[in-house]
Amino acid sequence: MCYSHVVGEKVMVRNVIIFFIMLLSLPSLSSGSYREEFQKEFLSKTWSGEQPAENFCIECHSSDKMKPEFLTIAEEWKASWHAQNKIACHNCHGGDPKDPSMSMSPHRGFVGKPKPSEVPDFCGKCHIGILKNYNESDHGKAFRTSGKGPNCVTCHGSHNIQKANIDIISEHRCTKCHSYDRAKTMKQALFLTEKKFDELEGGLRKLRKEGVYIDDDQKNLFNIQAEFRTLFHSVDVNLVRDRTNEFSSKLAAVESKVSSTFGELRFRRNFSAFILLLFAAMGSVLYLLTKTPKD
Ligand code: HEC
Ligand code: HEC
Ligand code: HEC
Ligand code: HEC
Ligand code: HEC
Repeated sequence: MCYSHVVGEKVMVRNVIIFFIMLLSLPSLSSGSYREEFQKEFLSKTWSGEQPAENFCIECHSSDKMKPEFLTIAEEWKASWHAQNKIACHNCHGGDPKDPSMSMSPHRGFVGKPKPSEVPDFCGKCHIGILKNYNESDHGKAFRTSGKGPNCVTCHGSHNIQKANIDIISEHRCTKCHSYDRAKTMKQALFLTEKKFDELEGGLRKLRKEGVYIDDDQKNLFNIQAEFRTLFHSVDVNLVRDRTNEFSSKLAAVESKVSSTFGELRFRRNFSAFILLLFAAMGSVLYLLTKTPKD
């Protein structure tokens, strides 16, 4: 009778241990399904489309057949943010990268080099929201009516396009047509929100280093960023100021999520230490139980 009592207690101790092991493995289970969801999202991303294994546009344009003043283009493109995002020559210029004899034929959709007046629509077929804000802006209107406004390439370049930020607003770029004062007030209006983006990106990077799965938060931040940066193209300081509150509250939501994740991380560390202690304690209890004399 006393023996079965000991066995019963052992079974109970084992169940407790199994329970804790299951508890500890929970976080890894849930991050598994997160990842699946991300992959689904990633695969359905619009322009990260198929690129041919052999791209004849790039091949021929990098060869000695090319006239020297065009030779830098492929190099510049390779260093661009577009290249990193799998946007190649034919995605902008049309044509067929797989067939060298027909690659620049209009029958394969080749549109060639856009005239300056065509540039906004040329870029805007993908950057739709930006094109809309640009068209409604003083820049877009001046460009379309008198040709005096800047177009996309004036500020971003064409082949060596990099990730955008407010440093594009510089004396060098913005004083070609008017005083820097206007540009400066725009930069000041954008500054605080941009700074918040930087801080949050830093926080998310730290979390990633800690092994926390943060792709969803990063995507959320990316979307807010993209929407905010579209706003610049209105070159309307009042509009930027009006909408800054709205963006601040969106960013505050991301911020509180990031800081609560940091909190959770600290809690989990303490909790793991607690569990370890608990295991040690249970180990000793188990040891004592097995040592109990069996009469
Ligand atoms: C077999 C070689 C070859 C291939 C393949 C090729 N190109 Fe070209 N491309 C040229 C040459 C040569 C020129 C320069 C023509 C000239 O002298 O102005 C040129 C000019 C261009 C121009 C400027 C033409 C203009 O409208 O002013 C663009 C844009 C261009 N290529 C894009 C492409 C794209 C996009 C592809 C792939 C879909 C491609 N090329 C494939 C050889 C090639
Ligand atoms: C993001 C869109 C974009 C991509 C990608 C792109 N181009 Fe262009 N390209 C332009 C624009 C806009 C112009 C016209 C404005 C200019 O000359 O800067 C242009 C002009 C050109 C010209 C004519 C240059 C001149 O001085 O007349 C050639 C040649 C050319 N591109 C080839 C290429 C090749 C080859 C690739 C791939 C390696 C490529 N482009 C990728 C947007 C693009
Ligand atoms: C075929 C579609 C396509 C065309 C055409 C195109 N882009 Fe892009 N562009 C993209 C994609 C995709 C990205 C990468 C995703 C992102 O960063 O938004 C990108 C990124 C950018 C970025 C960096 C955005 C960032 O996150 O900071 C700039 C700036 C940009 N493009 C400007 C241009 C300009 C200027 C033109 C015309 C010369 C152009 N694009 C033409 C698809 C396109
Ligand atoms: C190619 C010429 C050109 C360049 C380069 C240029 N602008 Fe402009 N900008 C204009 C024109 C034209 C207008 C509208 C007509 C006007 O008000 O003079 C304008 C208007 C503006 C306005 C609106 C002013 C207001 O009070 O309504 C702002 C803000 C502005 N630009 C900012 C910038 C910034 C920032 C840059 C640099 C990133 C820049 N601009 C580069 C031509 C240019
Ligand atoms: C007067 C200069 C100027 C002109 C003209 C201009 N941009 Fe921009 N663009 C900027 C600046 C500055 C930013 C960064 C704004 C910020 O960080 O808030 C930017 C940001 C962007 C971004 C990044 C948005 C994101 O998702 O992060 C893209 C894409 C872009 N521009 C494309 C275009 C296209 C396409 C056109 C033409 C229709 C264009 N730009 C015309 C100055 C310009």
